[in-house]
Amino acid sequence: DVLILDFGSQYTQLIARRVRELNIYCEIHPFNNLPDDISHYKAVILSGSPYSVRAEDAPHPDLSEIRGRVPLLGVCYGAQYLAHFGGGSVEPSETREYGRANLSHIAGGEPFFEGVSVGSQVWMSHSDTIKRLPDNAVKMASTADVEHAAYRIEGEHTYAIQFHPEVYHSTDGKKILENFLVKIAGVSQSWTPDNFVDMTVDVLREQVGDDKVVLALSGGVDSTVAAVLLHRAIGENLHCIFVNNGLLRKNEFETVLKRYEGMELNVKGVDASGRFLGALAGVSDPEEKRKIIGRTFIEVFDDEAHKIKDVKWLGQGTIYPDVIESVSVNGPSATIKSHHNVGGLPDFMKLKVVEPLRMLFKDEVRRVGASLDIDPAQLGRHPFPGPGLAIRILGDITPEKVRILQEVDDIFISGLKSWGLYDRVWQAGAILLPVDSVGVMGDERTYEKCVALRAVESTDGMTADWVNLPYDFLQKTSNDIINRVKGVNRVVYDISSKPPATIEWE
Ligand code: XMP
Repeated sequence: DVLILDFGSQYTQLIARRVRELNIYCEIHPFNNLPDDISHYKAVILSGSPYSVRAEDAPHPDLSEIRGRVPLLGVCYGAQYLAHFGGGSVEPSETREYGRANLSHIAGGEPFFEGVSVGSQVWMSHSDTIKRLPDNAVKMASTADVEHAAYRIEGEHTYAIQFHPEVYHSTDGKKILENFLVKIAGVSQSWTPDNFVDMTVDVLREQVGDDKVVLALSGGVDSTVAAVLLHRAIGENLHCIFVNNGLLRKNEFETVLKRYEGMELNVKGVDASGRFLGALAGVSDPEEKRKIIGRTFIEVFDDEAHKIKDVKWLGQGTIYPDVIESVSVNGPSATIKSHHNVGGLPDFMKLKVVEPLRMLFKDEVRRVGASLDIDPAQLGRHPFPGPGLAIRILGDITPEKVRILQEVDDIFISGLKSWGLYDRVWQAGAILLPVDSVGVMGDERTYEKCVALRAVESTDGMTADWVNLPYDFLQKTSNDIINRVKGVNRVVYDISSKPPATIEWE
C-alpha cells in the first residue's frame, strides 16, 4: 500500500488516480490525522499545498516514523517542506513558476528518471522556490527557471520534486511515479479489479459474518455494484430495497426491478409513488422538494428495514470522492450538496454501516462491476439525480406532469440510444417548463407545455458543456415529442455550459 499525505492541494486526488492507474493501491490521509499504524505502507507521498512552508500555520507533521524508514516522495509543497526543515532554504520566487516548463538538465544514472529525457514537459504551480538544498541532498534535475526541480537525500530513499507529476500536462509524470513506486520502493502492481473483488469479498465475510445487511438500490451504478459485491460475500443475508418514488423514468421501476431479480439479488420493490406525490402536492420550492423527498425516502426505507428481522448493517454505495470530501484537510467544502451517501441515514436506524466501495473512484467502480459480470449497459448508465424528475418539473408536481415528462424523456433517451449517441453523452434528460406557450393546430390556437432537452459532456459533473447533437436527431426527436406527447407543443434545446449554468434546472 501507498500512503499519500494530503496537505490540502487541489491535485491530491489526482496523485491517487495516477497511482491507482499503475495498479497500485493507495490511500489519502490528511497530514494532521495520520493512521495509527503505518507499518504496512511501502511508500509515502507528500502532496502539494496552498500554504507556504514559511507561513507560521503551515502544515508541519512529524515524519520521524517515516523518514529514512520508508521510501518518501515530496511533491511541490512536499519538496519544499523537506528542504525547509532539512536545513535548506525556501524563499519567494522572483520569476513566474506556473504552468508549462521543460526539464533542461537531468543527472545521469538516476533510477528515478529512467526513461525520461531532457526536454520532458513538467507542470509547475508554486510561488516559493527552493534556493538552497540541504547539505545531504543531491540535485537530480532542473528547468530553465527552477534550479532545484528534483533532488534526493543521500543515504535515504527520500526524493523530492518541485513539479506536479500527477497532472496530465507533466508528460512523463506517470513514468516518474512508476520509477519511484516500483523501481525504488518495490511496490507491487497487483491492484486490479479481480484482486479487489477477491479481497473485498473476504473482508466483507469477516466484517459482517452471519449478520443481515439491508441496502437501498437506486438503479444507479454505485448501489448496484455495492449490492453485487455484498451478495457475493454474504448471499441471501443481503436484503435489498428498491423504492419507487413515482419520480423515476418511464417503466424504470419495473425494468430495473426485473434486472435486479435477474442478477439473483434478494430485492424487494416498494411502490411508494402515492406517498411521495402526496407529500409533494402543491410544493414548488426546489430545496423544499428535495427535503420532502429525502425525508419520505428515509421513512419508507425505515418501515421496510424494520420488517427484516435482526438486521444489523446498512450497506451503502459510498465512493472515494465522497469520503475524501468529508475528511479533507479543510473539512467538507461549504458548497457540497447534501446527499444522503455521506454520514449515513439518521441515527434512529442504529445500524452499523458497511461500504464496500469507499476506496474506489467512479471509473474503478465500473471496472469492478465489469469484473463482477454486471451488464455493461447497466454500468454505462447516465447519472440520475436522487430526487429524480421532481427537479426537472419546474414548479409544483402533479401526476399529470410526471406522466408528460416521462413520455418526453423516454422519447429523448431511447432516441439517443438508437442513434448511437447515448455513450457520447455524460448525462441527458428533459425538463418540463412552467410556461404554456401558444401553438396552432388546424384552425385552433392552443396553449400547451414547453419542454427543454439537455445533454451534457462532463467527467465528474463539476463542470459540463452542452453536447453538439446532430440537427437531424434533434429534428426527429422534436417531431416525435410534439406528435406523440399530448399536452406539449414546443421543444427547445439547452445550450448553456456549467458554469455559469448548472446541469439541472433546479
Ligand atoms: P448540477 O445541477 O448541480 O448537477 O450541475 C450536478 C450533478 O448532480 C446531480 N444532482 C443531484 N443528485 N440529488 C442528487 O442525488 C440532488 O438533489 C441533485 N441535484 C443535482 C445532477 O443530476 C448532476 O449529475
